[in-house]
Amino acid sequence: MKSLHQQDKDLIWHPYTQHLVEPEPILIERAKGASLFTSEGNEVLDLISSWWTTTHGHSHEKLNQAIINQAEKLDHVMFAGFSHPPAIKLATELITVLPKNLKKVFFSDNGSTAVEVAIKIALQYWKNRGYSTKNKLVALDGGYHGDTVGAMSVSKGSGFFNSYKDYLFSIEVIPFPETWIQDDERLEKEAISLSYFMKLIEEKKQNLCAIIIEPLLQGAGGMRVCSIEYVRKLSQIAKENDILLIFDEVAVGFGRLGEMFACNKSACEPDIICLSKGLTAGYLPMAATVCTDEIYNNFLSQKIHKTLLHGHTFTANPLACAVAHKSLKLFQEEQTLKKIAHIEKKHVDFSQVLLKTNSIFKLRQVGSVLAFDIQSKKNNYKNNLSEKLRFLFLSQGFNIRPIGSSIYLMPPYCISDKELDRTYDVIFKTITSLPTI
Ligand SMILES: Cc1ncc(COP(=O)(O)O)c(C=O)c1O
Repeated sequence: MKSLHQQDKDLIWHPYTQHLVEPEPILIERAKGASLFTSEGNEVLDLISSWWTTTHGHSHEKLNQAIINQAEKLDHVMFAGFSHPPAIKLATELITVLPKNLKKVFFSDNGSTAVEVAIKIALQYWKNRGYSTKNKLVALDGGYHGDTVGAMSVSKGSGFFNSYKDYLFSIEVIPFPETWIQDDERLEKEAISLSYFMKLIEEKKQNLCAIIIEPLLQGAGGMRVCSIEYVRKLSQIAKENDILLIFDEVAVGFGRLGEMFACNKSACEPDIICLSKGLTAGYLPMAATVCTDEIYNNFLSQKIHKTLLHGHTFTANPLACAVAHKSLKLFQEEQTLKKIAHIEKKHVDFSQVLLKTNSIFKLRQVGSVLAFDIQSKKNNYKNNLSEKLRFLFLSQGFNIRPIGSSIYLMPPYCISDKELDRTYDVIFKTITSLPTI
């Protein structure tokens, strides 16, 4: 009998993995709270919430029960021509927590499809209204919106998609005014970005369909932060110029940045919002693209071509809806936003320690996210720095996965003070001994 590792190697192609050089994956057998447990019984603290999905913690009793209860009633049913209570309950709850202009929920299964749907809705909205030439999308440089073709097309400068660049559609890109704590040039960068947007509008307003942004935090592009004021101004300009505003909150939704959504934090009302990852508390693949009644109403017609002809087999899977609904309830029952505020306070205190070292730069901290770049003394060392650090942290029981030279934490909200302190400790020791690693 082959070992599980060997079977994995023989059969499975892992995501974002160069199988020629990567070591064999770590086998995880179970998880609880903020911890993963390997088949050898070792604990790994999940400090990036398993690709930013786990919110209340792994294997939460109430979430487990919600899935079990639902599985006993209805596992799945197609969602065209049918509906079911878990989807209706979830949509009702979502509409309650989202900005009040967002009224219609379209379900799909992952972050990329949430974005794909948003793009298709935006393009068809203008077409349905008779503005066929309003078909150009705008995005921020360095953004990442997913791995499907539409999502890749609006992800310019993220560096992930060079192999496909000839097959993606063209968009307009504006500079991202990346900022950090103690950044003296923020206002200047924001002015440049906004004037770029204004110029684009001056030249091409008739063609601009929508702008898609990751509000406040570009995730996969390197945990890059921009200011609330910038997001607000950008949103206002889009609104004033008939450009649909799409917030991709796939990564930052459900409390990551301290409030339920980044749009709450920036007091913006996007026309369309994309949600996934934390939607089901990290349990099941699911996404939602939520839009205004105004947009939805422009798809109502006797003419079939005005219909949104889009759908996925597992749209609104009842198990996923049930766990997502329970997760939203837990935000109230467990006062989750208070837990996030506490994590933020811990991050702020640790930031003070970090700022006193000479080992880091570009310190960013928003809600439950803490990020900074490494100041490495050896220039040539940087090339595989992130990989080296990843394995160094893993070998000590911490799932921290740097992006380039950015180290970041985005823990599950159930993480304890003790677990955070252990994490800060290992980070401090690691970065202050960097040149010798
Ligand atoms: C902002 C954002 N949008 C979209 C996606 C794509 O989500 P998925 O990986 O579920 O397709 C991601 C994934 O990291 C993301 O961070």
